[in-house]
Amino acid sequence: MASSPALLLAGQNVLHPHSPAEHSISVLWWVMLGGAWIGLTLVAVLLVLGWVRRKRASLPFGGGERAATRLVIGLGIATPIIVLTGLFLWSDIFVIRSTAAPAQGSTAMTVQVTGHQWFWEIRYAGREAVTANELHLPVRTRVSVVGTTADVIHSLWVPELNRKIDLIPGRTNRMLLYADQAGTYPGQCAEFCGLQHAHMELLVVAEPRARFEQWLNGEDTTAPQPTGADAQRGQKLFLTEGCADCHQIRGTPARGQVGPDLTHVASRSTLAAATIPNDRAHLTAWLRNPQRVKPGNKMPELQLSSSDIAALVAYLEELK
Ligand code: CUA
Repeated sequence: MASSPALLLAGQNVLHPHSPAEHSISVLWWVMLGGAWIGLTLVAVLLVLGWVRRKRASLPFGGGERAATRLVIGLGIATPIIVLTGLFLWSDIFVIRSTAAPAQGSTAMTVQVTGHQWFWEIRYAGREAVTANELHLPVRTRVSVVGTTADVIHSLWVPELNRKIDLIPGRTNRMLLYADQAGTYPGQCAEFCGLQHAHMELLVVAEPRARFEQWLNGEDTTAPQPTGADAQRGQKLFLTEGCADCHQIRGTPARGQVGPDLTHVASRSTLAAATIPNDRAHLTAWLRNPQRVKPGNKMPELQLSSSDIAALVAYLEELK
């Protein structure tokens, strides 16, 4: 299981921009890297020249003390002032603005993201859907993300789409998410928030609009009733063994708000904020001992028998 987070994180790269905002960040990054290399090379060349010609009183390329003073003022004072002022103006006027929170009314939809220790709660403005750790959005659409937290400070960062925003208690911050092509863009909590900070990943799934609408309509519905005998037993266990105190399954009496909403948990590709894949083996391991998979998370070990775990898994697998 230890290998899965690295696997899931593999796609994250700030230098693979998939939005105009991230493009402006990566261009600035490359220009700064190029400029730093030019500066470093110049200083290194001057150092080597100075050493090679150390026995002569004049500068390596001629000139006396006045020329040396001019060189120090020119390269040591004037150049940094010009370069740093230029970079400051560029980043402040252009990059900061192109990556800033979208103007009110300039986006097609709003998504609310709430940070929890340690998962992301996701709601769609004006819709019933509540999900976790998987933020779907239509491709090539400006989406306003409103972020806050239910506990400590987290920071929402989707490196291929935009800069990060902090999720602060009692406050909301906004960011623009826009994906120029369909795909899955990994995001990550970027503010230390406790033991499982490193396992607080988010998947942003950009889809063609029709597919996105279909997904959202599905997430809007209440949970399907269990069909198989095992699943039906699993639902009873869920409602009586404590699960319902912490998790919500819309359409059932389970209304807990401590852990992620599980109404359509089977439709998600990962569990525990992308810590493990969402399949039978991992779900079983999670129910057997959540603290072993993700130490410090709020889910206790429930001391369930193997057959009870199998019934719960059968139920949760039907929550598509
Ligand atoms: Cu949430 Cu770090």
